[in-house]
Amino acid sequence: MNLLPDGRFAWCDEQALKDNTTGFVSMVLAAPLVTSEWAGFGFSGPGQMAGSTAVVTTLGVTGEPVVQQYFLKDQDLNQVFKDDTRLTLTQAIEAFYNATSKTVYVGFQVNFATSKAIPNYLLYAQGPASGDGSTISYHRAQSMDKLSNSQFPIGVVGQSEASKLDKQVKAHGALQVFGWGVLLPIGAMVARYAREYDPAWFYIHITFQITGFIFIIAGVATGVNLAKSFSTPGLTGHKGLGIFLFTLAILQVCPYALLTPKTLMQFNNPLT
Ligand code: HEM
Repeated sequence: MNLLPDGRFAWCDEQALKDNTTGFVSMVLAAPLVTSEWAGFGFSGPGQMAGSTAVVTTLGVTGEPVVQQYFLKDQDLNQVFKDDTRLTLTQAIEAFYNATSKTVYVGFQVNFATSKAIPNYLLYAQGPASGDGSTISYHRAQSMDKLSNSQFPIGVVGQSEASKLDKQVKAHGALQVFGWGVLLPIGAMVARYAREYDPAWFYIHITFQITGFIFIIAGVATGVNLAKSFSTPGLTGHKGLGIFLFTLAILQVCPYALLTPKTLMQFNNPLT
C-alpha cells in the first residue's frame, strides 16, 4: 500500500472472508481519515481504476462517517459517479469513526455473484473532499493489490466460537428448564391428582418422568461440554448443584428400572 505524503498509510488495514456456504464476502476496512478528506476502497476486474467500483468514506458536517458507492467509469472527475447499484450488499454498510485515533472503520458484506463489481484487484486511494464530504476530487495517493487466484480467503462467517457457545448455553438452559420445570412437575401432578384413572395415570406418569429424565440428560451433556470451554467465577457452585440434582433424578428413576411391571404397579399403588 502507498504512503501518504505525510508518511501515513493510505489504508491501514483490510480484512476479508468469503463464507464457504453462501459465498458472501464480509469485509472490514480501517483507514486514517480527517474532515475534508476521503478514503476509497475499490474492486476491479482488469486491475485499473477505469471501470472499477469503489466504496468511498468521508466525514459529514457533524463528523459522522458517510459511506457511498461509486462507479469509476474513467480517470476523470466527470467520469466518477455515485452509484449504489454496483455492489449487492446483504445489509446496509456499517461505519464507525474514532475521533481520537482519527481512524474510520467500515464493514459490509457483498454478494459478488450478483454484483457489477469484479474483485480480481483491490484498489486503495485517498484524497481531498469538500468540507461536508459530499464531493471528492483527484487522489493524492493510490495503490492496488491483486487477489491471489482472484479469491478471498474462505471461511465460516457469522458462526464465531462465541456465537456457537451462546447457542450451547441457550440449549443447555432450555433442556434443563423443560425437563425440570415442565415435564417432571406435570408427571408428578398426574401421579398426585389423576389416580382415579387407573392404570392410565401410571403410564402417563412414567412417560413424563422418563421423557423429562431424557431432557435432563441431554441438558447435562451440553452443560458438561460447555464447562470445558468456560472458566467463569461461580461455575463450580453451578456445576456442584447441577450434579447433585442430576443424582437425585437418577435415584428417582432407579426403582423404575429395577422393578418388574407388576411390582411397579403395586409400588405405585399399594392399595391394589
Ligand atoms: C475523485 C475522482 C478521481 C479522479 C479524478 C481520479 C483520477 C485518476 C487518474 C488521473 C489516475 C491516473 C494516475 C496516474 O497514472 O498517475 C488514477 C489512477 C488510479 N485511481 Fe483514481 N481518480 C479518482 C477516484 C478514485 C477512487 C475513488 C479510487 C478508489 C479506490 C481510485 C483509485 C485509483 C487507482 C487504484 C489508480 C491507479 C490504477 C490506474 O491507473 O488505473 N481513484 N485516478
